[in-house]
This record gives sequence, C-alpha cells and structure tokens, in this order.
Amino acid sequence: MEVQIDKKTVGEIVAADYRAAGVFEKHGIDFCCGGQIPLRAACAEKGVDAEEVLQELGQVAQSAGDPSERYDQWELDFLADYIVNQHHAYTKSMIPRLKEFAATVADVHGDSHPETRTVARLWDELSGEFIMHMQKEELMLFPYIKRLVRSKADGDLPAKPRFGSAHELIQDMEADHESAGDHLAQIEALSEGFTPPQDACNTYQALYAYLAEFDASTKKHVHLENNILFPKAVQLETHMRKPDVETKTIDVRTIPPPQRHPLIFQTFDALEPEQSFLLLNDHDPKPLYYQFRFERENQFTWEYLEEGPAVWRVRIGRSLS
Ligand SMILES: [Fe+2]
Ligand SMILES: [Fe+2]
Repeated sequence: MEVQIDKKTVGEIVAADYRAAGVFEKHGIDFCCGGQIPLRAACAEKGVDAEEVLQELGQVAQSAGDPSERYDQWELDFLADYIVNQHHAYTKSMIPRLKEFAATVADVHGDSHPETRTVARLWDELSGEFIMHMQKEELMLFPYIKRLVRSKADGDLPAKPRFGSAHELIQDMEADHESAGDHLAQIEALSEGFTPPQDACNTYQALYAYLAEFDASTKKHVHLENNILFPKAVQLETHMRKPDVETKTIDVRTIPPPQRHPLIFQTFDALEPEQSFLLLNDHDPKPLYYQFRFERENQFTWEYLEEGPAVWRVRIGRSLS
C-alpha cells in the first residue's frame, strides 16, 4: 500500500520527485542532511503550516515533470557515476576558483566587511574536508556499491570490503555531509543569504553568486547520496547477505534472560569460519559485545545492521583466524 505523503520523511518526498525540493527550500525546510524527519514534524519545527506545504506539493506533483529527474528509479551504479561526473566534477572545478575569490575579497574588503575573512576561513575548511570526502567515495564506497550491483546481476556474493561494510562507511560519509552543511549554513548566514553589499566589487559579487550556486548544487549532491544512493546501497548489501542471515537468527526478545547468552555462545561456537548469525534485541547488546571480547577475543566479527530506536540488529560472525 502506498504510504500517504504526510507520513513520509522530507527526504523520501524529494527522492520520489526532486521538484519538491523547491517547495521545501522556499519554507526553509532542510531536505538533505536533515531529511530523515517526517513532513509534519519538519513543518512544526520550522513553524510552517503543514497543510499549505501539502497543497504546494500537490500542485508540483500535478504539473508536467521531467522524467529524467526520477533519480530514485535509476540503477545504483548509474547514479554513482552520475554523482561523480556531475557533482564531484563541478565541486572540484569550483574549489580552487572560490578559494582564490574568497581570499581576494577577504584581503581587499576585510577591514570594512570582516565577515569576509570568516567566509574565506570557512571555505578553506569546507573544501579541504570535501576533497578528502569525495576521494573516499570515489576510491572506496562507490566502487563497492557498483560491485554489489554486479554481484546481484551475476548471482554471486561480493567479498567483504576492507572497510567493513557499506553501512559503516556510509555513517562516516553522512557525518562529513553534516559538517559541510554546517559550514555552508554559516557562510549563508554571514553573507545574509549570499547577498553582496552595495559597495561590492565584481569579484565580491561573483564570489557570492558562485557560493549560492555551490550551495544549491551541494544540497542536491548530498540529497542524492543521503536519501537515495546510500539507503538503497545498505538495503542491497543486506539483501545480498540475506541467505546467511535468514538461516540463523536469534531474537533475544523472545528468550528468557538466563538462557540468552548461553544460547548465543552455543550458536557462535557451532559456526564455521566466515559464517555468521543475526541477533535481534530491543536495546544495544553492548554487554554481550564485551563478553565476546573477553571470552572469544580475535575470533568474532560484530556488525550493526540496525541501531534502534526500537530494534537493534547485529550480525555476529566467526572470523577466519
Ligand atoms: Fe559525493
Ligand atoms: Fe558525499
């Protein structure tokens, strides 16, 4: 059954139709880093009338749309290439240009507009972090996502990546996005919405125009990753490992407490190297993790597949050595 639009998160709504981004932008609702909030909660947080937003979303949905913007229907390997060719290429081309413009404006106008010095410093921090971030995506995460897609088509299982899992690396990528979003929000506030002052020279005006363009491009870039590519990659990774997971699942919520740990260790001891089982619990099973570290040191792997708030799913495996 189709989930009603007001029950969806902001990110899910934009993932289904990117034109909705314009509506959220207008009302100051964050659809990329903060896109995991349900629509009504996001409206309440911003003091915006949810009915008005729903009406505008309805109007957008009824207008003629560009089918090429249905990013949520693209294959993941194609989407990953698109992000690199479109957004990473744009970001890499803008970073040195904006660094030069920001430094020049801070030098020339820093005394009369001290905020330009902070903008130049924030830009240096943001661009340095973002270059490293895109490298991690291009060299580690995206090739692994493309391997998952190939493995699904070929019907084989991909080798476990050196970085653990897509799920783990994606958590780091999302934290980087959060930091980039914070830097851009600070620049936007300092520049009063990228508005140059009356006495701004051409470079000053160009800097703020390019920063506004960069901000819009980065919001779309982060949205495509946070709301479409990353959740679908985690879903695919979980699906690819499903046969192993499905055969052995211990739902500790249904087992009396005294029997839990003995059953878990009994199940673990019966595993062959590289086999695993899935543990379900209603809280973070950290004490169990420490017991494993104490009693089965260097013999086990521990991977969170879901971390609350209602359910914790942990994949516990026997390592090779
Ligand atoms: Fe990216
Ligand atoms: Fe990213």
